[in-house]
Amino acid sequence: MKSKKMCAGVYWVGAVDWNRRLFESLTPLPDGTSYNAYLVRGSEKTVLIDSIDPKMAETLKNHLSGIEKIDYIICQHVEQDHSGSIPMVLEMHPDAIVLCSSKAKNMIIDHLEIPEEKIKIVNDGEVLSLGDKYLQFIYTPWVHWPETMVTYLKEDRILFTCDFFGSHVATSELYAGKDPFVMDAAKRYYAEIMMPFRKVIQKNLKKLESIEFDMIAPSHGPVFDNPEIIVSAYREWISDKVSNLVVIPYVTMHENTEIMVDYLVSALVERGVAVQKFELSTTDIGKLAMALVDAATIVIGTPTVIGGPHPSAFSAAFLTNALQPKLKYAAVIGSYGWGTRAVEQILGVIPNLKVEVLGSILCKGKPKDDTYAALDLLADTIQSKHAVAAETVCA
Ligand code: FEO
Repeated sequence: MKSKKMCAGVYWVGAVDWNRRLFESLTPLPDGTSYNAYLVRGSEKTVLIDSIDPKMAETLKNHLSGIEKIDYIICQHVEQDHSGSIPMVLEMHPDAIVLCSSKAKNMIIDHLEIPEEKIKIVNDGEVLSLGDKYLQFIYTPWVHWPETMVTYLKEDRILFTCDFFGSHVATSELYAGKDPFVMDAAKRYYAEIMMPFRKVIQKNLKKLESIEFDMIAPSHGPVFDNPEIIVSAYREWISDKVSNLVVIPYVTMHENTEIMVDYLVSALVERGVAVQKFELSTTDIGKLAMALVDAATIVIGTPTVIGGPHPSAFSAAFLTNALQPKLKYAAVIGSYGWGTRAVEQILGVIPNLKVEVLGSILCKGKPKDDTYAALDLLADTIQSKHAVAAETVCA
């Protein structure tokens, strides 16, 4: 794909990775992704904002082939999908200087082996003149690494945000418009990448409130030309408000745990509680992460394997703990053969979740009358806890 002009002197010079299906050997990419870099040409200086994943470096090389001089390369984030082609750009433009936040400098040296003298730190709030255009650097740490910052092009009212507000989606469209498909990808991206940093994002969003922008140009996915859509979505996602929703990741071996899960699902639905269940041997963990963005409760369903939880249930609990969603309540249900430590081990792996544990229901072999009675009681408890949670948020 060719470079694209966004406005006078501002160009998208990224790459669309249509076929990539996994990121960091962890994150599913059902819709591919893009690596966006931007070229800003002022009357006196030319700047490249971020680079692209090195495996597509040739695409960036082609975009930049007619550019006589790049004065600065802004490294907003050191993760290699954005910084990995900077060494190639420096080979093309040996006089260019890499600009970055104070935390980024040593990371650039460690990850990219760029000589220290080629790197210059810019301060939070510092302004760089390109002649007729000015760029302001705004530190936004922990979205999602400690060194992250965004860059504001005041004259064209564009905020370049790297991963912040990004979405893993491959598209030929430069702009998001009001496309709900992009918003779905943006929510998935928030859930998988940004959710652990929800509290710090609250601070970073506040910091950006004084800036007037007409576009948000992230480094994955399309440019948000209606930025209020993505900003208000983020406000919702990072808020303390939870939905009347129970997420049930579960796995079953001889169907007993699944029978319990299905019974609980029906019991909750009868009580007006929404449910999303995820069978862990087949589920897309990105979908699970999305469901966790505003769910009030998680119920983990697991059989017992060699005395502990099924590894898939343990892994889901570990992942949930890492993502730190704003869950308020948790429970564990499942079946075992003759003995089990599944509950202790599941609860032991979720210390980051500030949840009230509503109990556990384990049955030996097949679920029986007392199992169903306990599941009904759990559904009652969840219903009343959710009603209190809704009142607390409204108050
Ligand atoms: Fe898109 Fe944190 O890299």
